[in-house]
Amino acid sequence: MDKFVIHGGRPLKGAIRIHGSKNAALPMMAASLLLPRGERLVLRNVPDLADVRTMAKLLVELGVHVERGGARLTLTVEDDRPVRAPYEIVKTMRASICVLGPLLARRGEAQVSFPGGCAIGSRPVDLHLKGLARLHARLAVRNGYILARGAKLRGGTVYLGGTFGSTVTGTDNILMAAVLAKGRTVIEHAAQEPEVQELAHLLNHMGARIDGIGNHRLIVHGVERLHGAEKTVIPDRIEAGTFMAAAAITGGDVTVENVRAEDLTVVLETLRQMGVRLEAGTYTVRVNAKGLRRAEPVDITSLPYPGFPTDLQAQFMAILTRAKGISVVTERIYPDRFTHAAELSRMGAEIRKQESTAIIHGVAKLSGAPVMASDLRAGAGLVVAGLAARGRTEVLRVYHIDRGYDRLEERLSSLGANIRRAKEIAPASSSPAAATA
Ligand code: EPU
Repeated sequence: MDKFVIHGGRPLKGAIRIHGSKNAALPMMAASLLLPRGERLVLRNVPDLADVRTMAKLLVELGVHVERGGARLTLTVEDDRPVRAPYEIVKTMRASICVLGPLLARRGEAQVSFPGGCAIGSRPVDLHLKGLARLHARLAVRNGYILARGAKLRGGTVYLGGTFGSTVTGTDNILMAAVLAKGRTVIEHAAQEPEVQELAHLLNHMGARIDGIGNHRLIVHGVERLHGAEKTVIPDRIEAGTFMAAAAITGGDVTVENVRAEDLTVVLETLRQMGVRLEAGTYTVRVNAKGLRRAEPVDITSLPYPGFPTDLQAQFMAILTRAKGISVVTERIYPDRFTHAAELSRMGAEIRKQESTAIIHGVAKLSGAPVMASDLRAGAGLVVAGLAARGRTEVLRVYHIDRGYDRLEERLSSLGANIRRAKEIAPASSSPAAATA
């Protein structure tokens, strides 16, 4: 296993170009399963990440030929008979659940390993299943697998609101099932995340008829078949937000390129409230925190889009550990997503947790320490903290970070950070833990 070794205290400087979005690319790749044999889906600007490779492996298992040329991925259906997404793959990446809807819609059957809980808390799929049942699928859970059948899916009204808002991959699944279902489907309380919108646009390029993209209510008019298409994956707003947090905490001056500022409105506003100067263009944001020794304290509540993204909560909490006062961070998507808080405390942060809220008393300085990444974004938060801490920080279990960031250490080094990858000597019993994203 790898670890990151960071010597903190260097302000980041320069420009960084953001890669394609992981959470947009993964469901788009799964959409290839909706194609008839021989048809091709071409995706451009696909990030080179462990999760993308895992989805490619799963699709190969499901009869799709996957070819990568640089950031371009070509997916061609060669065999449309396999229907089983095995435990061995699903356990390493929860986004594998995105194959459920398209397999069922196109092949009339799906057997997908039931994703379990993970480091960020309980992550049920009840809304996915209820939604598919509304499209007249027959569903059962047996031997750890979701068994879905529905040779003739029919449209219906699907409600996707749950205790914690809508569901992102649940909306993806219902959309992909509904595009080939007979008749009209209304999806109420659909997720509005940009990544969901992009999937809907891709499906329309492939011949689907989806109205209301970007709204809480999506209307899908089922069609007989889809055809091949090409699409560019949007920039990763979470990768962008992570570099912005790194610039802010180090008092840096970084221009983040290839970013859609419109997807990051609440994140940019939060940075402004922290005292960071921003210059936002359509595709670039300059994050200028020069001279900002400690940020202003702010309160953050993670919410479904357009609210503050849960996937940036850890990185922004890192900034707040050094703020000039008390901040309150409330997690409304995953109430238990706070494993980074205990690790940040090892670096001298003062954080008190009360149920789904963390109260952060800003301290003048963090000090480097060995810390453990428990999931992808918690790991990113610890790296952000390490960049500002005095002395040496080691972030262990970097494989979590590699799932969603392409060579994060090289990219931070290009901005002047002192960070390198090294081998972690793992005890014989430890092995990569379960998936998060
Ligand atoms: N939920 C239910 N029932 C369901 C589905 C979800 O109660 O059937 C709950 C969840 O437990 C959670 C909330 O609804 O409390 C939202 O979960 P959602 O289903 O929207 O999450 P997801 O689709 O599994 C995606 C991202 C996550 C991101 C969340 C929230 C992908 C591949 N994953 O997960 O990304 O945190 O939306 O925005 O798009 C990451 O990239 O690090 C990551 C974890």
